[in-house]
Amino acid sequence: MGDYILVIDEGTTSTRAIVFDRDLNEVALAQEEVPLTYPNDGWVEQDGEEIWEKTLGVCRSAIAEAGGAERIAGIGITNQRETTLVWDRATGTPVAPAIIWQDRRTAETCDRLRKQGHEAAVHEETGLLIDPYFSGTKIGWILDNVDGARARAEAGELAFGTIESFLIWKLTGGASHVTDVTNASRTLLYRLGLGGDAGWSESMCSLLGVPKPLLPEIRQNADDFGTSAAALLGKALPILSAAGDQQSALVGQACLDVGTAKITYGTGAFLVANCGLDRPQSVNRLLGTIGYEAPGRGAMALEGSIFNAGTIVQWLRDDLRLIEDAAESAEIAASLPGNGGVYIVPAFTGLGAPHWEADARGTITGITRATTAEHLVRAGLESVAYQTRDLLDAFEADGVAIKELRVDGGMVANDWLMQFIADICERPILRPDYREMTALGAAALAGMQLGWLSADDWASRTVPGTRFEPQMEKTASARLRRGWATALKKTLA
Ligand code: G3P
Repeated sequence: MGDYILVIDEGTTSTRAIVFDRDLNEVALAQEEVPLTYPNDGWVEQDGEEIWEKTLGVCRSAIAEAGGAERIAGIGITNQRETTLVWDRATGTPVAPAIIWQDRRTAETCDRLRKQGHEAAVHEETGLLIDPYFSGTKIGWILDNVDGARARAEAGELAFGTIESFLIWKLTGGASHVTDVTNASRTLLYRLGLGGDAGWSESMCSLLGVPKPLLPEIRQNADDFGTSAAALLGKALPILSAAGDQQSALVGQACLDVGTAKITYGTGAFLVANCGLDRPQSVNRLLGTIGYEAPGRGAMALEGSIFNAGTIVQWLRDDLRLIEDAAESAEIAASLPGNGGVYIVPAFTGLGAPHWEADARGTITGITRATTAEHLVRAGLESVAYQTRDLLDAFEADGVAIKELRVDGGMVANDWLMQFIADICERPILRPDYREMTALGAAALAGMQLGWLSADDWASRTVPGTRFEPQMEKTASARLRRGWATALKKTLA
């Protein structure tokens, strides 16, 4: 048996394969961009076959770099969550493009369900809210808009899955149609809970018109997900773990104990707090979800989802062309004495937690004749900190006080932003030295399945990194937050 773990990290904008050794140090990495398309206002899609082909390609490259398939003991998978695919069980071909988690095409369906008064029951059953973000209404859209899909789904000819489920199907040549508890808990179709009577919800399937034969079997995060076909990766490999990327980062950051929390700044930003065995109850529009389930250990979690974080830097770079690269945004922000009263609320695809306004669109406020391009860059970065603080306040109001916040994701390379987040959130920010926390979580879960480590060992791990302490005067931080609150009010008006 090999002594390495191959992790597939299929994110919103790129797919990656990372090989870890037995001590969970990175030994090889390969990455490919997967383009998003925007065929209509509020629509966001990707090509499922392209996701699969590029994922297979990066796996092969990373395995070659790591010394060949003989070195690999098994596979761990982590993925962008909620993104929805329906495919033909006979051919493995998707019947429609993947509908990405950011896609708002089912906003009207969600409005109708809310107006019919279903929100409280849905929240009670799933821990979620009625919003286009989740998979449930996306599945309904595919079944109602692809010719013959509903009848074929009812006849058991089609399969639904989020991305990990689709990749496992492809890797196993159609032998495994499975998902894991964390991805299942983001579909709007899962009766939330740890073990017991948790599982696919009859009432939600019937409310959203999702035929049960479409659905995959649900496994824990460290579990038996099947074996890859030998011809694909040089040898047959067991698939040992699967977890949604945010929950995988929770594990990567070793947030296995109640009270620990992390936020990952990727395309969006997702704050997840470990709530232990108790089901979280939010009255502030946060989400109850599964944190993780591994042999002998598991936790529920409370989550706040910000839809736009890394996208702000992309927008400043690719659309406004105000910066050459992400690093330049940090230099520009640091070069200014302040924000000049300018605020950007980046509601590009509506606002997520704690507002949940699918129809909100972005605003820029406070512009004067003295406003420069630099102010816009700084306002874009600052918005990430204000959104984080809004989440922390909502967590606190729900009784989940977060004393310090572990951070990861592409944006955390920006020192200026890390300090600004610590100042605006008035809490210490902990940045790990190793940045691929999402992939590391999937590797740790796979290691648990192999018996290389225990969840208890992992829980007591100290993550080496840098600590950013709040330094700004409290009055200055409060003044900036008041400016943000005014801009937000205009966005929501
Ligand atoms: O819920 C969506 C989330 O899983 C996407 O994560 O890292 O691709 O922005 P990311």
